[in-house]
Amino acid sequence: MSPIISVSNLSKTYGSGFKALNNINLEINKGEIFALLGPNGAGKTTLISIICGIANPSQGKIAVAGHDIVSDYRAARSMIGLVPQELHTDAFESVWATVSFSRGLFGKPKNPAHIEKVLKDLSLWDKKDNKIVTLSGGMKRRVMIAKALSHEPQILFLDEPTAGVDVELRKGMWEVVRALQASGVTIILTTHYIEEAEEMADRIGVINKGEIILIENKTTLMQKLGRKQLTLQLQGRLDCVPPALAAYNLELSSDGRAVTYDYDTKGERTGITSLLSDLRNAGVRISDLDTRQSSLEDIFVSLVRAP
Ligand SMILES: Nc1ncnc2c1ncn2[C@@H]1O[C@H](COP(=O)(O)OP(=O)(O)O)[C@@H](O)[C@H]1O
Ligand SMILES: [Mg+2]
Repeated sequence: MSPIISVSNLSKTYGSGFKALNNINLEINKGEIFALLGPNGAGKTTLISIICGIANPSQGKIAVAGHDIVSDYRAARSMIGLVPQELHTDAFESVWATVSFSRGLFGKPKNPAHIEKVLKDLSLWDKKDNKIVTLSGGMKRRVMIAKALSHEPQILFLDEPTAGVDVELRKGMWEVVRALQASGVTIILTTHYIEEAEEMADRIGVINKGEIILIENKTTLMQKLGRKQLTLQLQGRLDCVPPALAAYNLELSSDGRAVTYDYDTKGERTGITSLLSDLRNAGVRISDLDTRQSSLEDIFVSLVRAP
């Protein structure tokens, strides 16, 4: 399958001298939902701004359906819809006028049937004559998506579509995105929520400090991320892990007063129940326990360190 977007050796240094992107290589497949996952400041908005032609690359090449985004800007840009991180619309325009106007910006002839379909798909049809200012936050976000789809793009970028959005609204947004994919649109979304990437994406790219540190199918990546750690504080002190417990690969703390156990939250069984009973059988008494899930930060560290 040939990629619909291909980014090669892309770097970006801002005027301030700050290097926000360092040698990014990335291919997006037609029809997929790709999540660019990374903490704040990782370079997500910079990357998509460059692909969308809002910011200039310092080095490297980007092609959108074969069109170079610099030398063939108009053709490349017309294939793309962008829902930016910051929502801005003319509050006193109607939904219909706002969305129709956006289409005009791309030099496309009027197509009321298309605007109607977009508004219906996004459950905004009954609001078409409302002024934007009268809409709820979730509706405003959907108007932004409608604007981005007004010129019939094949690719939609959503920059942090659910940042600061409540759980209910987030789920609604996910449904909208899935429906768009089903209609044939390729979707690239950025997020700093692991949960969102996990829920939505076919593939995930992890970006940190301007570098893509991993690109993987969602299923594979989630197996890596799904690990948790159980720490057991012991009543006594151990010199070594009892041989009977070897199968658990426990790690003994340097003071001998705690053991940690790594387990997979996505696995069929965690092994915790049998671990606890085997510990008791081995005469090891526990005074306290505590579990922790790898944070995004830990995951980055472990991914960067991985050979
Ligand atoms: N116009 C700019 N000039 C200088 N530095 C910038 C500019 N825009 C973003 N940056 C810096 O580039 C880095 C990446 O920013 P951004 O792409 O917005 O990250 P993200 O979207 O992942 O949160 C940040 O350190 C940010 O401060
Ligand atoms: Mg951003």
